[in-house]
Amino acid sequence: MTDAGTIRILDQRTPEERDRPFLPGMGRTWLLPLYDVFTRVAGVRTLHERAVELAGIGPGQAVVDVGCGTGNLSFALLAARPDARVTGLDPDEDALRRAARKAQRRGVSLTLVQGYADRIPAEDASLDHVVSSLALHHVDDAGRVAFAHDALRALRPGGQVTVVDFGGPAPDAGEAHPSAHRHGPAHALRHLPHLVRSRVAQSPAVARNLGDGIVALLAEAGFGDAREVAHVDHRFGRVSFVQATRP
Ligand SMILES: C[S@@+](CC[C@H](N)C(=O)[O-])C[C@H]1O[C@@H](n2cnc3c(N)ncnc32)[C@H](O)[C@@H]1O
Repeated sequence: MTDAGTIRILDQRTPEERDRPFLPGMGRTWLLPLYDVFTRVAGVRTLHERAVELAGIGPGQAVVDVGCGTGNLSFALLAARPDARVTGLDPDEDALRRAARKAQRRGVSLTLVQGYADRIPAEDASLDHVVSSLALHHVDDAGRVAFAHDALRALRPGGQVTVVDFGGPAPDAGEAHPSAHRHGPAHALRHLPHLVRSRVAQSPAVARNLGDGIVALLAEAGFGDAREVAHVDHRFGRVSFVQATRP
C-alpha cells in the first residue's frame, strides 16, 4: 500500500502480477504527464459527462471505475453524485498517484486500487455499477473475458455496467491523412487528429471492440440486455456507450 497524501492506494496485485505487463494510458509510461492535458484538449471530458448521465448513479451507490487511469471518469461521477462510493482500479501506480493527488486537491473521497480489470475489488453482488472508459481496448483477450465475468459477479442483481470505448461499426480503411508526413511538423501537427484517428482505426486492440465486440463480450458473460445505448463520432474515432444489467 502506498500513500499519496491522505488518499491511500491499495495494492491488490498478487506477487505474480507485479511483473504483469499492461498498456498505459498514452501507450508509453513516460507520456503519462501529458495524459490529462491531451485528453482535455481532445474533448474526452464530454465523453465522461455523457457516461455519467447514462449511468444515472443513485444516492450513495457503490461504483467501481475499471481502468480509471488518472481518475477523470471517477471525478465526473463524484461531481454529479458526491455521495457515491467510488473506487478506481488501474494497474498503473503512477496514474493512481495522480488520481490520488487530484482527489485530495478536490477534497473528494475516492478509493484507489492497483490491479487489473479481471479482478474487480468488490464482494460478490455488492456493486450498483461498474463503469469503464477508454480502457477496454487496453486489456488483452483473456483479461476482457475475465472482466466481463467478474463485473457480473461483483454487481448486485439489477446492477449495471457502462462501458465507453472505441467501438461499433468498423471505420473506413485508410483513414490516415496521407500528406501529413510529407509537409513537415507544422502540417503534421494540424493533422494530428487525423493521425490519431488512423492509429485508433488500425489498432489491433481496438479491433476487438469493433462491430458488436463490446456488446457480445458482455452478453457472452451472462448479461441479459447488453446493448449500445449511444455513440459519439469523436475526432479520434467512433466511441460506443454500451450498457448491460445483471439479471
Ligand atoms: C486511455 S486510459 C483511460 C483512463 C480513464 N479511464 C479515462 O477515461 O481517462 C486506459 C487505462 O487503462 C489502464 N489499463 C491497461 N491495462 C489494464 C488492465 N488490464 N486492467 C485495468 N486497466 C488497465 C491503463 O493503465 C490506463 O490507465
